[in-house]
Amino acid sequence: MSAGDALAERWRQARPPVAGLHLDSAACSRQSFSVIDAAAQHARYEAEVGGYVAAEAAAPALDAGRAAFAALCGMPDAEVVYTTGSLNALDLLLGGWPADRRKVACLPGEYGPNLAVLAAHGFDRQLLPTLGDGRLALDDAAFALEADRPDFVHLTAVASHCGVVQPLPMLARLCGELGLPLVVDAAQALGQVDCAAGADVTYSTSRKWIAGPRGVGVLAVRPELMQRLSPRLAAPEWAPAATVAQQLEFGEANVAARVGFSVALGEYLAYGPEAVRARLAELGSISRSVLADVPGWSVIEEAEEPSAITTLAPVDGADPQAVRDWLLAERRILTTYAGVQRAPLELTGPLLRISPHADTTAADLETFAEALIAATAATAAA
Ligand SMILES: Cc1ncc(COP(=O)(O)O)c(C=O)c1O
Repeated sequence: MSAGDALAERWRQARPPVAGLHLDSAACSRQSFSVIDAAAQHARYEAEVGGYVAAEAAAPALDAGRAAFAALCGMPDAEVVYTTGSLNALDLLLGGWPADRRKVACLPGEYGPNLAVLAAHGFDRQLLPTLGDGRLALDDAAFALEADRPDFVHLTAVASHCGVVQPLPMLARLCGELGLPLVVDAAQALGQVDCAAGADVTYSTSRKWIAGPRGVGVLAVRPELMQRLSPRLAAPEWAPAATVAQQLEFGEANVAARVGFSVALGEYLAYGPEAVRARLAELGSISRSVLADVPGWSVIEEAEEPSAITTLAPVDGADPQAVRDWLLAERRILTTYAGVQRAPLELTGPLLRISPHADTTAADLETFAEALIAATAATAAA
C-alpha cells in the first residue's frame, strides 16, 4: 500500500461512512468521530456545569487551537482571534484597520464576497498583474506595487473557483521588502498548501480542508499590527480591561464548535501536514488526468497543480448547475456548482468543481468521470 493510500484509509476510518461520493471539501469537509465527539462532549458539559464554566474549562483546548493555527501560518507570535468564518475574520480586521482607507491590491480572481467586504469598508481596488491562468505575475507585481503603493496587499492563496496555488511565500517576501502589509485569505489554502509564509495577517475557516465544524474561523494578526487596530465595537471605559484581540473576539460564540476545530487542527498536525498536502496534490493530479478526456468539458488547472481543487468549464453548452444536481440526485455524488459571483472579475461563466479530501481513491475519481459523462448526456437530453 502506498503512503497516500495508507493515509486515505486512516482518514476514512476516522469518520462516519460517506453516503455516496463526497467531492466537495472546498465547501465543507467531513468531520472525524473525534471532532464530532469533542464538540458533543463540550455541549454535554455545558448542560452539566453551565455554559460559562464549561467555556473557562475549555480555554486550554482553545489556546491549543490558536497556537496550531499560528504555527501553520508561520506566525508563531501572532495573536489569534476566533471568528465565525473567513468573511467574518476579514470584516473584523477591516472594521478596525488603522490607516485611512484608500486602496487594497488584490488579484482579479479575488473571491467575490471578499470584494464586497473590501468595498464596504471603503477600499478601492488595485488589481495585481497575472499570468494567463490567474496566477500572480510576481515581477510585474513588484513594479506595480512599488510605483503605486496600496495600504495593504490581500492575497487569496487558493481561490474558491480555481485550484491554482498562488506564490504566497514569494509575495510575502516581496511585501516584506516593500514594507507593505500582507493579508492572506487561507480559507481554501489552509490544510491544502503550506501557509507558513509569515504574513502580517492570515485568516481561515474550520470546515474546509482542516475538516472541523461549521461556523468557526480564525484571524491571526502580528502583535504590532494588532496593537494598531481599533475594534469597531471597542470595550467601554467602565468594562474590565481587554486586549485588542479580546475586543475583536467579544460576543456570543459556539464554544463547542471551537473546541471541535481545535481537535481537528490537532488531528491534522498528527497526520502530518506534509503528508496530507502530498495526498491532496496527488488527488488533484489523478482528477485532472481522469477528467482530461470527458467530452463536453475542459479542465482548467494544469495536471500537476498542487491542490485538490479541479474545475471544469463546459465547452459544448452543458449546464453546470443541472449537471451538479443530476449527479447528486441520481448518483449521490456531491460536487459544486461555481457561479461567476465567486470571482466576478475573472470568471466569464459558471463551472463545475470537485474537491476530494484525503480518503478519496483513484477508483472514486474514475466513478465520477463516468458519472459526469452520463450526467452531461442526461441533462443535455432533458
Ligand atoms: C477563498 C475563500 N475565501 C473566503 C471564504 C468565506 O469563508 P466563510 O464562509 O468561512 O466566511 C470562502 C468560502 O468558500 C472561500 O472559498
